Amino acid sequence: MNSQITAIGVYAPDQVITNDWFADKIETNNEWIISRTGIKQRRFAAADEYTSDMCIKAAKKLQAENPGTSFDDVDFIIVGTTSADQVMPNMASQIQNALNIQNTGCLDIMAACAGFVYGIILAKGLIAAGTHKKVLVFGAETLSKFTDFTDRTSCILFGDGAGVALVEAAEKSKIFSTINGTDGSHGKDLYLSQHASVVNGEEIVPNGKIHQNGKVVFKWAIQTITNKVGELLSKNAITLDDLDWIILHSANLRIIEAVAQELNVSMDKMLTSIELYGNTSSASIPLAWDLAAKSGKIKPGNKMLLLGFGGGLTYAGVIIEV
Ligand code: COA
Repeated sequence: MNSQITAIGVYAPDQVITNDWFADKIETNNEWIISRTGIKQRRFAAADEYTSDMCIKAAKKLQAENPGTSFDDVDFIIVGTTSADQVMPNMASQIQNALNIQNTGCLDIMAACAGFVYGIILAKGLIAAGTHKKVLVFGAETLSKFTDFTDRTSCILFGDGAGVALVEAAEKSKIFSTINGTDGSHGKDLYLSQHASVVNGEEIVPNGKIHQNGKVVFKWAIQTITNKVGELLSKNAITLDDLDWIILHSANLRIIEAVAQELNVSMDKMLTSIELYGNTSSASIPLAWDLAAKSGKIKPGNKMLLLGFGGGLTYAGVIIEV
């Protein structure tokens, strides 16, 4: 069976954190953050607001903006997150309960900033197998609860937010060929450990905070993502000109600019959420999609390339029609 994304919804917490907020906590300033990352502000969840809460709000927003959408017959819920409220129960089960969905599979997946696209790939597979028809795919993070605010190279990057896509069985295929992969040897370059003090035989700090080797991730991202966009296009037998929009994970505006330059694509084609929301990991692609949709950029029938990448280091990409 073919599949398509029929609707999306997003939610971002109310609390806006400007770059100046950091200036009296660490040695940094607004100009440095904007010029090195593109980030102007980000949102932080309230102290009592967690990833599952934001997912539920994003799902309710999807329904409010798409009247008549019912979740009653949703038969699978997938949540991409690395900042779950707790390890057990999973986020998907809490969403099932809050939305009162009676007969559904519930699965959280951990693929860092690639989580949302991995979720779309899994939903496509479940529908193609003929076992499921209507899947909710979330990408949601409360990274502020796992940020080391004494590390100026990483704390200025992260923000909180949630997005959800409704993936449904369809007559015509609108989710095309996909790619995914990982270079696990980079485990230590981007990690968040609660317990283990070793990854790939190398020592790490198990303090429940995000640790990142920014320079290594930066270089890996530009090289890998440029190559993978090319691979995804050839797999779909289309060219860059056939795409209306490209949404790469909003990790850093400079990464997106560098990939656009390597591909010889105008930045006008790249949709981002980094400026207003910071790096929201698995939520960054739906947030960018929603911003562009609300501003009237995305039109029915448009073709978009979505590519997430992050901790693992892993990546996942898909080309869709909206
Ligand atoms: N404010 C001011 N100065 C800062 C700073 C901050 N918040 N953080 C670092 N600096 C300083 C550094 O100490 C360094 O000073 P020095 O030259 O005196 O040593 C200088 O700025 C440059 O640091 P550098 O680490 O080379 O900066 P950068 O240009 O590589 O940018 C990142 C740092 C983290 C923004 C960048 O490496 C990055 O975005 N990496 C990828 C992150 C990412 O995408 N992660 C998620 C993947 S999903």
